Amino acid sequence: NSGALWGGRFAGGPSQALAALSKSTQFDWRLAPYDIAGSRAHARVLNQAGLLTDEELEGMISALDQLEEDVRSGAYVPAESDEDVHGSLEKGLIERAGADLGGKLRAGRSRNDQIATLGRMYLRDHASIIATGVVAVIDALIAQSEKHPYAPMPGRTHLQHAQPVLLSHQLLAHAWSLSRDLDRLLDWDKRAAVSPYGSGALAGSSLGLNPQSVAEDLGFDSAVWNSIDGTASRDVYAEFAWIAAMISVDLSRLSEEVILWATKEFSFVKLHDSFSTGSSIMPQKKNPDIAELARGKAGRLIGDLTGLLATLKALPLAYNRDLQEDKEPVFDAIDQLEVLLPAVSGMVETLEFNTDRLAELAPQGFALATDVAEWLVRQGVPFRVAHELAGDAVRVCEEKNCELWDLTDEDFAAIAPELTPAVREVLTVEGSLNSRSSQGGTAPSAVAQQLEALKTELKPQ
Ligand code: ARG
Repeated sequence: NSGALWGGRFAGGPSQALAALSKSTQFDWRLAPYDIAGSRAHARVLNQAGLLTDEELEGMISALDQLEEDVRSGAYVPAESDEDVHGSLEKGLIERAGADLGGKLRAGRSRNDQIATLGRMYLRDHASIIATGVVAVIDALIAQSEKHPYAPMPGRTHLQHAQPVLLSHQLLAHAWSLSRDLDRLLDWDKRAAVSPYGSGALAGSSLGLNPQSVAEDLGFDSAVWNSIDGTASRDVYAEFAWIAAMISVDLSRLSEEVILWATKEFSFVKLHDSFSTGSSIMPQKKNPDIAELARGKAGRLIGDLTGLLATLKALPLAYNRDLQEDKEPVFDAIDQLEVLLPAVSGMVETLEFNTDRLAELAPQGFALATDVAEWLVRQGVPFRVAHELAGDAVRVCEEKNCELWDLTDEDFAAIAPELTPAVREVLTVEGSLNSRSSQGGTAPSAVAQQLEALKTELKPQ
């Protein structure tokens, strides 16, 4: 059991089967730089507590620096027999600092408080990378909106034509949900910025180490107030996994629209060659693979979240080895989002909208019927009646196989005397859009204000 972190009370080494099961270096090695940063901070508090001389501290830091360099260059990698990142790096430290000095670092800390801390550090760094990726998607949506400030399109509910909306309004709707995800990442960081280092195995340390000083050293705002909570809780991971899953779901909903819009039947949008794929057999094909992968990965990220929650459920306090299973779900969510976000932002940025077709379809399917009903309300007709009359008009159109604006003055008059020829003023897409000018509405004036509000929201405080 050479190089293992435990072994004194065991007569022999672990079985092959146990070692194979127990091993985590294949996924926790990515935490090595954080482990080394934690070790530096820990060495400093050992020094402050009088447990390392200044000279020993200096030797320890320089060995850790060397180790970090060797990890970075790939000169030092975990051995087949290493159990986890912590054990492997302690072995590497001892190789560089000698057993006498290297063996002092483990005092007053446990892998339990280490792993809880390193995970938070890693998640915080990647949360900011993911936030940058989300901002890029939002920026792409904003750029498309600004490119098409007046383009109308069919707005849908139940996937059926509902009311005309501006294309920019539809695109910005996706931007708003993503902007809330950004908000969530920022807010989450408040809870993630608390360091468990110093919690030890579960009860804290008797060595007079200062957790606050380690926390500051590692970029945290503070240290945990409860060492059991520090080592056993993973709600910060689960919340991160939820936000990641939510981001993927938001990307998936946007992607689903792109997939529909790019079909021959919709023909709303053309994908850029560099953000679409072909078929190995059908020469004509141009497929929205990015959007489909976004949709598929959302399922995967939901799985990451639910898997993690299932692991946590019913775990007694404090640390249990089950918690080793906390890492792969969040690492996977991070890895997926970090490849997905740049592809989605590129896809959105390069979409080419067929605005003529969008405009032509915007009023079809009787999408102006609500405008007729609301026009009647402005003439003093109760909405219940107005709704009936506009519905009658739609029925007549269906009988005559025409659109609302094709009805003659006589057709309207036959439905109800209130439907005077003046109703035609709302039977245009422009009139319909312009009338929805209150906050949050789809009128160009309201969308312009919305865009400013979104940009203000996105400005770093
Ligand atoms: N590899 C472990 C994990 O990922 C580190 C903590 C192990 N602690 C223990 N007491 N076995 O959770």
